[in-house]
Amino acid sequence: MAGSTYGTIFKITTWGESHGKGIGVVIDGCPAGLELSEDDIQIYLNRRKPGQNKYTTKRDESDRVEILSGTFEGKTTGTPLSLIVFNEDQRSKDYGNLASCYRPGHADYTFQTKYGIRDYRGGGRSSGRETIGRVAAGAVAAKLLKELGIKILAYTKAIGSISIPSDHYCYSDIYENHLYMPNNAYAKEAAEYLDECMKDLDSSGGIIECQIQNMPVGIGEPVFEKLDANLAKAILSIGSVKGFEIGDGFNVCSAKGSSNNDAFQNVNGVISKSSNHSGGVLGGMSDGSNIVFRAAFKPTPSIAQTQHTVNENGENVELVIHGRHDPVIVPRAVVVVEAMAALTIADMILLNMSARMDKIKDFYH
Ligand SMILES: Cc1cc2nc3c(=O)[nH]c(=O)nc-3n(C[C@H](O)[C@H](O)[C@H](O)COP(=O)(O)O)c2cc1C
Repeated sequence: MAGSTYGTIFKITTWGESHGKGIGVVIDGCPAGLELSEDDIQIYLNRRKPGQNKYTTKRDESDRVEILSGTFEGKTTGTPLSLIVFNEDQRSKDYGNLASCYRPGHADYTFQTKYGIRDYRGGGRSSGRETIGRVAAGAVAAKLLKELGIKILAYTKAIGSISIPSDHYCYSDIYENHLYMPNNAYAKEAAEYLDECMKDLDSSGGIIECQIQNMPVGIGEPVFEKLDANLAKAILSIGSVKGFEIGDGFNVCSAKGSSNNDAFQNVNGVISKSSNHSGGVLGGMSDGSNIVFRAAFKPTPSIAQTQHTVNENGENVELVIHGRHDPVIVPRAVVVVEAMAALTIADMILLNMSARMDKIKDFYH
């Protein structure tokens, strides 16, 4: 299987299946001298852990990370960092009827047709647990970015049709409700909607918004490694993401140039933009404003309703999915979005170091 590696300098390779022995990531290209402990990574993994409330799968995993290599006396050494999480609560018998059936909306049919073999237990590599490697590596990237003053904040903007307008955001609410929404009243409404979905044995989609703050100007490499293009790829590589938009996104289609352009201004010698329709990227490079993007997540494909599908013999069958599944993916994916953003920005920050001869001379002299 190709395609498990992401990044150019800060490069990650994730590995592992939902019901295999464990899941992990190898990070190559992390600079030496970054203070790093298992706790730094665990904080991120705890945010995506299953079984934390009724809106996440009941699978009971501690998801404890171990650093196998790449650190010495609490600091990275510049050698490959290898991070592992052992799987604990596999109930592979829950998935028995999926051995030969293709779940609608899931990756069973495409995996089977492409490879001629698939680990059907929990979706194997197409399971949400695949994101453990991303989140563990993203925690390291976020730590690197923190040293540079760059902060990444993601949250749930919408669940179903319950969407929080940006002028109703109350950021301190994000960690006060199970859905990571920046408004507790909207979160309550969304929770009621999810309760209805669960009663109907159904699932919901939603939107995650992410802000990247304190970005220096000029990060991103025209033309094929544009910052917005790489963020889009990183986010669309997360299972169940079906849409990506940056800044005003699809709304730019109905705007006019006069309203969509962000005016530049010089205030006491500092150049900035008076608005941020661009979402913090111009010409594929960061423009100094906050980067703001959104990801659209589809409803969890595994639902408990009886569904029509086809089995490996090509027969039409009815399928009832047992096992444990999130009624909505969005809350657990908030930290996954943050991690993929951190990995992309860390990689592009390192790539930017080769952009100018004068800076290279400064470094080597
Ligand atoms: C954090 C996370 C948790 C997920 N949990 C589930 C789940 O419990 N049940 C399920 O059917 N799909 C779940 N998914 C979605 C599937 O992984 C995804 O829909 C599937 O791989 C097909 O890929 P696609 O939707 O991108 O086409 C989860 C995804 C993420 C990112």
